[in-house]
Amino acid sequence: MSGHGVAQPMTARAAGPLRGVAEVPGDKSISHRALIFGAMAVGETKITGLLEGQDVLDTATAMRAFGAEVLQHGPGAWSVHGVGVGGFAEPADVIDCGNSGTGVRLIMGCMATTAMTATFTGDASLRKRPMGRVTDPLSLFGAQAFGRKGGRLPMTVVGAAHPVPVRYALPVASAQVKSAVLLAGLNAPGQTVVIEREPTRDHSERMLLGFGAALTVEKTAEGSVITLTGQPELRPQVVAVPRDPSSAAFPVCAALIVPGSDIMVPGVSQNLTRNGLYLTLVEMGAEIEFLNPREEGGEPVADLRVRFSGNMKGIEVPPERAPSMIDEYPVLSVVASFATGRTVMRGVKELRVKESDRIDAMARGLEACGVTVEEDEDTLIVHGMGAGAVPGGATCAVHLDHRIAMSFLVCGMAAVRPVTVDDASPILTSFPVFEGLMRTLGADLRRVEP
Ligand code: S3P
Repeated sequence: MSGHGVAQPMTARAAGPLRGVAEVPGDKSISHRALIFGAMAVGETKITGLLEGQDVLDTATAMRAFGAEVLQHGPGAWSVHGVGVGGFAEPADVIDCGNSGTGVRLIMGCMATTAMTATFTGDASLRKRPMGRVTDPLSLFGAQAFGRKGGRLPMTVVGAAHPVPVRYALPVASAQVKSAVLLAGLNAPGQTVVIEREPTRDHSERMLLGFGAALTVEKTAEGSVITLTGQPELRPQVVAVPRDPSSAAFPVCAALIVPGSDIMVPGVSQNLTRNGLYLTLVEMGAEIEFLNPREEGGEPVADLRVRFSGNMKGIEVPPERAPSMIDEYPVLSVVASFATGRTVMRGVKELRVKESDRIDAMARGLEACGVTVEEDEDTLIVHGMGAGAVPGGATCAVHLDHRIAMSFLVCGMAAVRPVTVDDASPILTSFPVFEGLMRTLGADLRRVEP
């Protein structure tokens, strides 16, 4: 497994067109939250369509360690017998969140206002990522955190025995930080308020309401003011996890750049806090039809018909769109390489603290594939070469980052020469069926001896 096991290099090379139906797995953000909110409800939450990627499996293990009963009944079908807000037991061992920033940050939030101590760690990627953005607001509730230099894991969090509610304006546009504060607010008395200037994914707010919390969102001049009333009794739910738009991005982008492709990707979220990539691709000239709009699992979704688009043009991606497509910039930069003209991505410095420094990882890999790239701390600019004109022929470093691995494999599906990634194993964290699904569509993916 990623970060703990043997690297699995993989090569993608151009083959025929991609055809067929790409049924991508459940949404990662909603899957983590279904397990965590289920563990904090009183009684049995039933989940279908749960993403069974390693990130989510690690969160399931963590919820067990805090005393919830988490069972798998069949593919994607899970139940969580929750212990109620404030009902967590102190874990007997270190909580290993593997590769998952969402897992560790949300779980720190949900134990920080209960009188207990928990120690968190993760793989080599997660141990490099900043936790201060979460432990700073958690300390306002009365929790204490002791980690490595720079607020890195491993880290021990001592939950507040007598938590106080908090009013917190998010200094970064981060749904993980917002969610950690709301989760901590659940076991604090009174009202916890989070203010966000730029909208980020709103799954926590939607799901907290579904689980019966009293939560309001008010749009004001300072941004969205989210007010949560603490110490509710959360009611167990039946959660149908919709498909993950961030995973759908990979077959969608592959079909756009592989000549002759024509695929269907059903049930892709149109949630305005998640759909920035799709708006951007349409502005670039991508042929995407949004069919059969409807609601699934409480999310607006559509079926996407995606065809090869040989005339895409580079654009300036509006920086205010970044939070709604933050995980999609790596694969967008691949599509941008196959468009004509420059694609300018500004306001993207958050990419530097993801599973890897994604600006650096994409810039180095695209350069190795023969694409001209410019970057600064907060910007990535890709000089498009046009359909079919990206040379490829490189081995790209993945840095334990699933989205970097999938992005360069997509690149290899349309480049002149094959593209190899040095380690495809991190893909299992978010999209365990990627390899088989892409092969079924017609992609030529081959594992290589390490
Ligand atoms: C997520 C929030 C985003 C995103 C991550 C999932 C979530 O991170 O990159 O993949 O589920 O809340 P940030 O909140 O750090 O931007």
